[in-house]
Amino acid sequence: MTPIDLRSDTVTRPTPEMRAAMAAAEVGDDVYGEDPTVNRLEERAAEVLGKEAALFVPSGTMGNAIAIRVLTRRGDEVLVERRSHVVRYELSGMAALSGVLPRMVDAPGGHLTPEDVRAAVAPSAYYKSDVRLVVLENTHNLGGGTVQKVDEVQAVVAAAREAGFAVHVDGARVWHAAVALGVPPARLVEGADTVMACLSKGLCAPVGSVLASTRDRIAEARRARKLLGGGMRQAGVIAAAGLVALETMVERLASDHENARLVAAAMSGRPGIRVAPVETNIVVALLEGRPAPDVVAALRARGVLGTAMDARTIRFVTHRDVDREACSRAASEIARALD
Ligand SMILES: Cc1ncc(COP(=O)(O)O)c(C=O)c1O
Repeated sequence: MTPIDLRSDTVTRPTPEMRAAMAAAEVGDDVYGEDPTVNRLEERAAEVLGKEAALFVPSGTMGNAIAIRVLTRRGDEVLVERRSHVVRYELSGMAALSGVLPRMVDAPGGHLTPEDVRAAVAPSAYYKSDVRLVVLENTHNLGGGTVQKVDEVQAVVAAAREAGFAVHVDGARVWHAAVALGVPPARLVEGADTVMACLSKGLCAPVGSVLASTRDRIAEARRARKLLGGGMRQAGVIAAAGLVALETMVERLASDHENARLVAAAMSGRPGIRVAPVETNIVVALLEGRPAPDVVAALRARGVLGTAMDARTIRFVTHRDVDREACSRAASEIARALD
């Protein structure tokens, strides 16, 4: 039997509508700016994210790398939460590609506060590096899909402005945050200099993310994308799926959030396991007794796939390709494996 795959919301297959749109996509050479489908996706992404312009990039990792590159200079520091994706899962890209140092702080749930920003302000001296950029992650993956609310984001943005820091939002799952809060995604990134949002996480597009900002900054980002080898040619074939993702796949995320609560309920209240409150489609649990890889292996044998994020943390992510009935079966198997 096919396993119930809750490792990530990146495992989704493109929908039939996406496949049809990809087959029919009008294309051109995007390095020449001549792919009409990519251009449409970029315009629409800019609109949805409330920015002047957007850039289609092959991955969220590249979108973050480009944002960090255009918002910093070599030797700068970047204020960031310790468990954020740019720190944990992007191969130290900010150091390797932009020559900047992360200044890491711990934040419950993963969300930086205005106090964290103010604490990073210090008198400048010629022998000290300065923070130039703050990176937020919304929703926060390792925090457990936690949502930073509009007023909280705004407070951080205001503190950053006062300090003279730029703000980048790693909004790989900004759609999930927006749906959980019932606000347009643009509201969640107002005032941020750049936002990266993924089309391939939860929204089911096979490839791609977007980076949105001002027109000038996106022009710079386009150069950085080329430098990193991300200039694509007839990319309309994949952008077409991205457009379908933006237009049709956001609202349905609410059912992934409901299913995540179902999966979490199978674990909560048990001794030796602490389940983080579920706010979106990610369920993270801390195991006090058994090693997380052992639990993941036991579950695999029962036909349910999850992820050991580290020795003690397991994660399940709900998505379109695992419906309510399958989530319910997964919940029963998880409960049995933990017994
Ligand atoms: C919060 C966050 N940011 C960035 C990324 C990177 O996206 P990609 O896998 O497309 O490079 C991910 C991927 O899971 C993520 O969860």
